[in-house]
Amino acid sequence: MDARIAVLASGTGSNLQALLDDPVVGRAIRLVISDRAEAKALDRARSAGIEAVHLDPKDYEDREAHDRALVELLQDRGVDVVCLAGYMRILTPAFVRAYWERTVNIHPALLPAFPGAHAVRDALAAGVKTTGCTVHLVDEEVDHGPILAQEAVPILEDDDETSLHARIQEAEHRLYPAVVRRLLEGDMPRLHVGTEAQ
Ligand code: GRF
Repeated sequence: MDARIAVLASGTGSNLQALLDDPVVGRAIRLVISDRAEAKALDRARSAGIEAVHLDPKDYEDREAHDRALVELLQDRGVDVVCLAGYMRILTPAFVRAYWERTVNIHPALLPAFPGAHAVRDALAAGVKTTGCTVHLVDEEVDHGPILAQEAVPILEDDDETSLHARIQEAEHRLYPAVVRRLLEGDMPRLHVGTEAQ
């Protein structure tokens, strides 16, 4: 129960907020990191009294070096589990291997359909009638890795990207905290949380 979580976010951080608002998950969040200084997610962390760090990619030679610094920071703070919440950078093997089976992501589509940065737009363009969101373990491919949970969301006749994304986000805000909570409560045996598994 005393696993330590870090959340990585690049933008608004509404999923971060949903995680913070869950009484079990919120207590476990010790660190929020962003690649963007202006990310609202950092303000949300500060308001919750949680350490907020801007790790600027410009300060590092390449993606590998940035990710090595990221892993160092996470390890220094004793982080067990990493939650990606709208983190818009592709993670390198240096990161993925260090936190393998301990990094989860939320994606606004029913993977393996519509990976990538335009999942909501792509689902609309494809004319599918149902989309949704997926929580999955992170591997070395983008929006790929073992699926932990999904919630379906219907696409309505008059949906545009904004209205559909808003409805998907309502589902995300239910699903993500519920999955992370199960993970912390030891209800997901394939995930190794805590020091004994390292
Ligand atoms: C979410 O829709 C998430 O699925 C995707 O990026 C978006 C982040 O939104 N990975 P927010 O910053 O949590 O509001």
